[in-house]
Amino acid sequence: MSRYTITSALPYTNGPVHIGHLAGVYVPSDIYARYLRMQGHDVAFVCGSDEHGVPITLKAKKEGITPQQVVDKYHTIIKNSFNEFGITFDNYSRTSAPVHHETASEFFKNLYENDKFIEKVDEQLYDEEANQFLADRFVIGTCPKCGNEESYGDQCEKCGTSHNATDLINPKSAITGNVPSLKQTKHWFLPLDKYESWLREWIVEGHKNDWKSNVLGQVKSWVDDGLRPRAVTRDLDWGIPVPVEGGEGKVLYVWFDAPIGYISSTKEWAKENGKDWEPYWKDKDTKLVHFIGKDNIVFHCIIFPAMLKAHGDYILPENVPANEFLNLEGNKISTSKNWAVWLHEYLEDFPGKQDVLRYALTANAPETKDNDFTWKDFQTRNNSELVAIFGNFINRVVVLTNKYYDGIVPTAGEFSEVDEETLAKVKEYPGIIANSVERYRFREAMGELMNLARLGNKYLADEEPWKQVKENPERVETIMNVALQIATALATLSEPFLPFTSEKLKGILNAGSSGIENSWSAIAEKEVLLPSGHQIGKAELLFAKIEDKDIQAQLDKLEATKVANEIANKEVEPQKDIISFDDFTKLDIRIGTILEAEKVPKTKKLLKLKVDVGIDTRTIVSGIAESFSAEDVIGQKVSVLVNLAPRKIRGVESQGMILMTDTMDGKLAFIEPEREVNNGESVS
Ligand code: MF3
Ligand code: ZN
Repeated sequence: MSRYTITSALPYTNGPVHIGHLAGVYVPSDIYARYLRMQGHDVAFVCGSDEHGVPITLKAKKEGITPQQVVDKYHTIIKNSFNEFGITFDNYSRTSAPVHHETASEFFKNLYENDKFIEKVDEQLYDEEANQFLADRFVIGTCPKCGNEESYGDQCEKCGTSHNATDLINPKSAITGNVPSLKQTKHWFLPLDKYESWLREWIVEGHKNDWKSNVLGQVKSWVDDGLRPRAVTRDLDWGIPVPVEGGEGKVLYVWFDAPIGYISSTKEWAKENGKDWEPYWKDKDTKLVHFIGKDNIVFHCIIFPAMLKAHGDYILPENVPANEFLNLEGNKISTSKNWAVWLHEYLEDFPGKQDVLRYALTANAPETKDNDFTWKDFQTRNNSELVAIFGNFINRVVVLTNKYYDGIVPTAGEFSEVDEETLAKVKEYPGIIANSVERYRFREAMGELMNLARLGNKYLADEEPWKQVKENPERVETIMNVALQIATALATLSEPFLPFTSEKLKGILNAGSSGIENSWSAIAEKEVLLPSGHQIGKAELLFAKIEDKDIQAQLDKLEATKVANEIANKEVEPQKDIISFDDFTKLDIRIGTILEAEKVPKTKKLLKLKVDVGIDTRTIVSGIAESFSAEDVIGQKVSVLVNLAPRKIRGVESQGMILMTDTMDGKLAFIEPEREVNNGESVS
């Protein structure tokens, strides 16, 4: 048995967790941790909230609250949603915790005292108006490597390159939009150049056969470009204070402190469980695995390892299986644009359906390239795969066992060739699935699990016990016995992937009771998992169909987001040409009340209205039917341009125009007086 330290990227606490995070990091790491635990390994699976850094400060500024309020809010949402989703962290900490401040300070002091840093005064970008140095996400400019015009000061999200803020072309302050000036300040730099040849040897050469090619490719390109010293301190006030002389008013760079959060989280866990944390980080036999998204590769494969190497006491990662990105309905997921499926909202909208999302995200995981999540695919994965294959097989097995044998596992007679073949195939699955999981191919592993369900489904469909039960009851006992063994294997092998389903299925099969074989090795070795005479429970649906209307509701929500973004980004129209006062007084605008309304046939937009404008009651055709139904508007107070020349619209003469404006949700709104007004009063 081995010891594993498994880390998942600490999520920034500037928003909730979304499906991109889940598919890239948290679902695969959870599958991996659950799998290893089932094999009896010693696992510490740690994570926590990343609470420092500029994204938090920016969010606080935007919402007019303190950074602490921001992180408190999202830490709670994130932690609870992970828990409800079945992510089995051994510990979920936060970087504002005292244990982390201590650990990160210690780490910095250690490198400082051992002369691992370069102390240097040089010029950094400064925003004169905001009175602040501009590092990281406080500054936006053109990436020197790929030309992306919206690169951040420390990293370009387009090409993934990490750079110094002063390398940006045409830098602009993210706070004021101003062009920054340069101002002298002192910082501590980690001389990455000194680790270049070591990194090349360790990763580019040493791991060329076992690390993912997307990870190797990025590392090689950075090392080939040449590494330079990187500042690991900042002139900011939100973060961990620089704990050495001359560090007053400065904090640690967030990417210096955050990965140390893995260590602090392990310490916190060990302390709470009466364990020693050190072997998990210092024993060279421990396997350290970092689960991250592709934008984190440079930090986990270059900067953090260089920090660990500089310190000298720590082990290095055995692997960093970074994933690519998941898009949503064809567009990049974005927290600031609210273009996401948020985990906490999913859990509310689809209660009890954690495994459906785990399944859809794993089956479509962005392991080798960016992928797209669509609600349609989610529905199909559920209805045509989970329901139609896995669920259908289990349901048949359990219903028939109850119907024919009162739920008691029948004794198998002589096996046919098909039975033998089928049982032999079942024995291969633990090995096949393990092989994929151990190579971080979770998508492939999930596919194999479904193949086992397919095998069961096909076996029953081919053997048709329901047709033979009258004439050949003995044969049916054998068939049902075989089918029950497959169901039991599925209950166990699905645990890392579909933990809620696994648990439910074990309950139905009564497979948690003593004497039932349910380890991976038993499935690979034993003929019988569920012995004859064993009593199973009643049938329960494992998965339910997801209806079109539930999918439509999600699509509508995204459409609303799109519209809100368009409106929020809409440029205000420039002012029209100047008119004279006389021009204005020519407009006769009156307050009126809508008395009647009906849809103009064969049109989408038009309502025919009868409006009392004080002077008379007249017919007006108005293009408001996409925002209001006829019933909605009866009794509505409106402003009407009454002296507009009448015109025929779709054969109806319209005698005036109702004044409207556009709302934030893309609909129209009436202009109505804020207090009681008589019909016929003029607006002037
Ligand atoms: N908060 C970072 C992000 O969301 C990830 C931090 S990972 C750690 O991209 F290593 F720094 F912890
Ligand atoms: Zn770039």
